[in-house]
Amino acid sequence: MAYNLLKGKRGIIFGALNSDSIAWKVAERAHEEGATFTLTNTSVALRMGDTAKLAEKCNAELIGADATNVEELENLFKKSMEILGGKIDFVLHSIGMSPNVRKGRHYSDLDYNYLSKTLDISAISFHKTLQVARKMDAINEWGSVVALSYVAAQRTFYGYNDMADAKALLESIGRSFGYIYGRERHVRINTISQSPTVTTAGGGVKGFDRLLDFADRMSPLGNATGEDCADYCITLFSDLTRRVTMQNLFNDGGFSSMGMSLRALEQYEKGLHQECECGGALDEEHNYD
Ligand SMILES: NC(=O)c1ccc[n+]([C@@H]2O[C@H](COP(=O)([O-])OP(=O)(O)OC[C@H]3O[C@@H](n4cnc5c(N)ncnc54)[C@H](O)[C@@H]3O)[C@@H](O)[C@H]2O)c1
Repeated sequence: MAYNLLKGKRGIIFGALNSDSIAWKVAERAHEEGATFTLTNTSVALRMGDTAKLAEKCNAELIGADATNVEELENLFKKSMEILGGKIDFVLHSIGMSPNVRKGRHYSDLDYNYLSKTLDISAISFHKTLQVARKMDAINEWGSVVALSYVAAQRTFYGYNDMADAKALLESIGRSFGYIYGRERHVRINTISQSPTVTTAGGGVKGFDRLLDFADRMSPLGNATGEDCADYCITLFSDLTRRVTMQNLFNDGGFSSMGMSLRALEQYEKGLHQECECGGALDEEHNYD
């Protein structure tokens, strides 16, 4: 159901790769709510992914930009303002990638060049986006910027690897820039901490299917889907949340406030008398995984 919440608003949506992408679902909802926007991704992703189909569906133009490259971000904001006919009202940063995760490097044996890339792509790109937007004065007063995060920023999750550090930095950038941009231009900046969701990036996390099941059993409302995340983003882009800023907002069915649920406990009990395959003699290097 559409409410015209974004009628007349102009946006930039990063990170729609295929129909599983959270950004894809946000774009569909933003279109339904009356927004006009540009879609952006790396040129490789635009070649390999399905973003062109989404662009056609939403009547949006595609602009290639590597979010770690300041010149490409400047071009993105410039072109978006030209195409959309004015300053931007909302931005979605939906970007994450860790070469350490991709190459199967353990957290206690990180490749530091990869770590720099993880942080640059998944967190510092958020700062670059905000800094470019501010210097170009590209975002309207009371505009809204949202980036997507995960609870591994606060708590340790097996297999999330250096993405946990990237998410902690991402959330901190949201707060630090939120102060400056809020004071100067009333621009609000928030992160949404989303449940595990089946997407290309999500599937890269070690033991993802079990994580998904565990989170679902732990959450009183169950895991939030990509569609739920899109709905939440729309409220944050709308004028209904004008004084929400510098927050990390959990869209996770209650997971982050839980300690243990009966559903998770009962499932755990079923496996209690079976030998665990992790740690000990089976894997001496990673005793504590
Ligand atoms: N899927 C989950 O379980 C989950 C949970 C919480 C948060 N998130 C976050 O949601 C966001 C979107 O991920 P998703 O799950 O929709 O997966 P996805 O793989 O569909 O999206 C990730 C996007 O990042 C883009 N990207 C990678 N490097 C880039 C770069 N240098 N410049 C610009 N774009 C680049 C990719 O092309 C891709 O479109 C990420 O920040 C992710 O960490 C995902």
